[in-house]
Amino acid sequence: MSPRRKSRIVAADPDWLSLPLDKLTLTRKEGFAAFAETPEPPRPPELSVAELKSLDPPELERHNLARRRFLANLRPIKTAQAEAVFADLEEILDAAVDQPTWEAKSMAAIDAFPGLGKTTLGLAFAKHVHNTLIGAHGRFTEAGHERWPVIRVGMTGDTRVKDFNWALLEFFAHAGRNSGTANMFLTRAMNCALACESRVLLVDDLQFLRFRTTWGTELSNQFKTIANEFPLMILFIGHELRDKGLYDDPQLARRITPLELAPFTIDDDAGRHQWRSFLLALEQRLPLADKHPGMLADDLSDQLYARCSGHIGSVMSLMRRGCRRAIRTGDERLTADLLAGVKLDEAAEQLRKQWEALFRSGRGTSKPSGSGKR
Ligand SMILES: Nc1ncnc2c1ncn2[C@@H]1O[C@H](COP(=O)(O)OP(=O)(O)OP(=O)(O)O)[C@@H](O)[C@H]1O
Ligand SMILES: [Mg+2]
Repeated sequence: MSPRRKSRIVAADPDWLSLPLDKLTLTRKEGFAAFAETPEPPRPPELSVAELKSLDPPELERHNLARRRFLANLRPIKTAQAEAVFADLEEILDAAVDQPTWEAKSMAAIDAFPGLGKTTLGLAFAKHVHNTLIGAHGRFTEAGHERWPVIRVGMTGDTRVKDFNWALLEFFAHAGRNSGTANMFLTRAMNCALACESRVLLVDDLQFLRFRTTWGTELSNQFKTIANEFPLMILFIGHELRDKGLYDDPQLARRITPLELAPFTIDDDAGRHQWRSFLLALEQRLPLADKHPGMLADDLSDQLYARCSGHIGSVMSLMRRGCRRAIRTGDERLTADLLAGVKLDEAAEQLRKQWEALFRSGRGTSKPSGSGKR
């Protein structure tokens, strides 16, 4: 980035840059609260091409900056897959909160390929729990402690029991997180969870845990202790959790409800309808002056599917990059030509040719029957 460009961003965006790091990271409760409670960034005004042309350069720059920020923070789209898993999570949590304290609490695991929106969905659920419980019961518990309905821990390459317990304390910024044994850390964390009436523990990137090692087994055992002793539901998120051994332990296999998040599929009309509904919702969000209804769902459906093989992460990257390009070039709309020049992730590129060949041959389509242009 050139110094000139950087200084313009600094000048235009001082609030973001002055936020303390705590508020930007989800490893601390303050960061999580900022994530859960900060209002969505306002949608930039929808300008026509003529209106865009009438802006003077500083106005245009401000408008483009607002559009870039909006694109970077697009709210999650309610896909059919995500809504189904969300409903399952609500049901599991509802049942768990009313269980007697001495009964082992429920656990759930979202296990799906990278880039399918697991973290997005887990965080959307966590945000919902945070805001619902604080809205219903207030920011403080009856005993006068801060209410923290959700605790979030992200796993890293070599998280062991003590690291995990440290991360629990770190979330609460607990003064006792720098000295003590793993068990002492766990007891302190449990006291925090009890005092703050926590109801969900979200453990993201669980695939990093090597279950079939000594410390993997130790941490798995500790998950059982947490389920037994803590008053909360554990939500694991990761990929290949089954193959990596999450369910090797019979007790965990009995207690964890596995949930899947599937890519969009176009094998049947039901799947193709879901893909189309997603594209229709997505195209409405795009802040481009010359877009039109059907720009994605009618004109680019096959191409987008071929580019991302139904993976939401890849299609969202394509949208963010494509829109930025369309703003920069002045095209102000997405076309096959423009998107063809946008680079994407390796996994998506690997599968692209197969899908393109299928659509070209006429043996497959991503559009449901009766959806207009084909
Ligand atoms: N429902 C959604 N609506 C809009 N964008 C989404 C949605 N789900 C996921 N995305 C976007 O897709 C990208 C990948 O999502 P996310 O990080 O949640 O995937 P993941 O399954 O957790 O991947 P990984 O296994 O790599 O951690 C993100 O940029 C996210 O913003
Ligand atoms: Mg993730």
